[in-house]
Amino acid sequence: MSVSFPLPSFNCRVDCGKDFDAARIRADFPVLARQVHGRPIVYLDNAATTQKPRHTIAALVEYYERHNANVHRGIHTLAEEATDLYEQARRCVAAFVGAHRPEELVFTRNATEGLNLLAYAWGRAHLAAGDEVLISEMEHHSNIVPWQMLAAERGIVVRWAPIDDEGRLDRAAFRRLVSPRTKVVSLIHASNVLGTINPVAELFAEARSASPGVLAVLDATQTVPQMPVRFRELGCDAMVFSGHKMYGPTGIGCLVLTEALAEAMPPFLGGGEMIDRVTQDGSTFARPPHRFEAGTPNIADAVALGATVEYLDLVGMDSVRIHSECLAEYALEQLARIPSLTVYGPRDPRERVALASFYDRDVHPHDLATILDRQGVAVRAGHHCAMPLARRLGVPATARASFGIYNTRDEVDLLVQAIRHAREYLGHVA
Ligand code: ALA
Repeated sequence: MSVSFPLPSFNCRVDCGKDFDAARIRADFPVLARQVHGRPIVYLDNAATTQKPRHTIAALVEYYERHNANVHRGIHTLAEEATDLYEQARRCVAAFVGAHRPEELVFTRNATEGLNLLAYAWGRAHLAAGDEVLISEMEHHSNIVPWQMLAAERGIVVRWAPIDDEGRLDRAAFRRLVSPRTKVVSLIHASNVLGTINPVAELFAEARSASPGVLAVLDATQTVPQMPVRFRELGCDAMVFSGHKMYGPTGIGCLVLTEALAEAMPPFLGGGEMIDRVTQDGSTFARPPHRFEAGTPNIADAVALGATVEYLDLVGMDSVRIHSECLAEYALEQLARIPSLTVYGPRDPRERVALASFYDRDVHPHDLATILDRQGVAVRAGHHCAMPLARRLGVPATARASFGIYNTRDEVDLLVQAIRHAREYLGHVA
């Protein structure tokens, strides 16, 4: 069979040669045609999960309708097709994020699983009591809890780099916190609450000069869907991201590892697929990436993630970044017109991904999100899996509007209008 992705009979309206046209891209996302409470949906919860283009959905259906079999161990035609599609997806996604070789990419369930895999497999083999793991105050729980679990088990110390009042990492404090005891620096690339893009290449270089051999880990979940991200150019040893936040399916994510790190890391889970040889006396393990993919993997969703990056390549990630910066700028400008709102994160859209978390001094974020929903506007309210950050901001929760490739300036206007309506409805000045 040809190993090229099944190209479904969808009509991709994106033309990389033309200006970015979110309105045309919308037509590739069937769910955006829906109405919610009688209004066209304004979907602004993309940092939680993105919608899926027809291309992705069709790849998933086509995989199950035509190619489904188990991978790597069958010698019949369908098994070979499934294996080719799965490994081609690995090649596509690895190339999309700038890995040197497809073998550097391990398929996981999501970013959280990637970070747990690292903390569990590498951390247990290489960290001892007193070793330090440096994270930041703007981390998602997925980059906090696995290290805390390791701290409880092994006596390692978790240190926190603070943020400043504009929601940037405090660089001077970061430098003070790195010492030869620092064995891991694990940072979020862009905060899912503040939107702040961290200058991670510089931070990792600083960490390496103070602690040669430090393991540099990057959570790129919010940046991979919003800008070009090149693993090898960011100076990290490991990087994680989730498929469902980059227009791909749920249940599939990636851990990208340098070859040196992958070779130095024992397996996480044991079982089929990840072994070289098993006898009654013991087992030897397969080489990476298969060493870290025990059991039957999530083949269909990996294949559909491959199709998703094919779609994103067509759109062009440079254009996506321009669109994301424009939306961030416009949203910040428009939200600033509502005096009761505090909007978090840096003012400069070049330092942000396209999301805005805000707190209305008169309306609880959950009430606000509920009233917005009645107007067809989907935002998220809560701590966004970043409770230490909410505490640092001094609020119990925020409301968050997060944008994707299909969102438009008109939708920012609808958001602002809906917030004003919610305020009026609750008896406050709009
Ligand atoms: N952690 C995801 C978010 O930021 C769910 O919304």
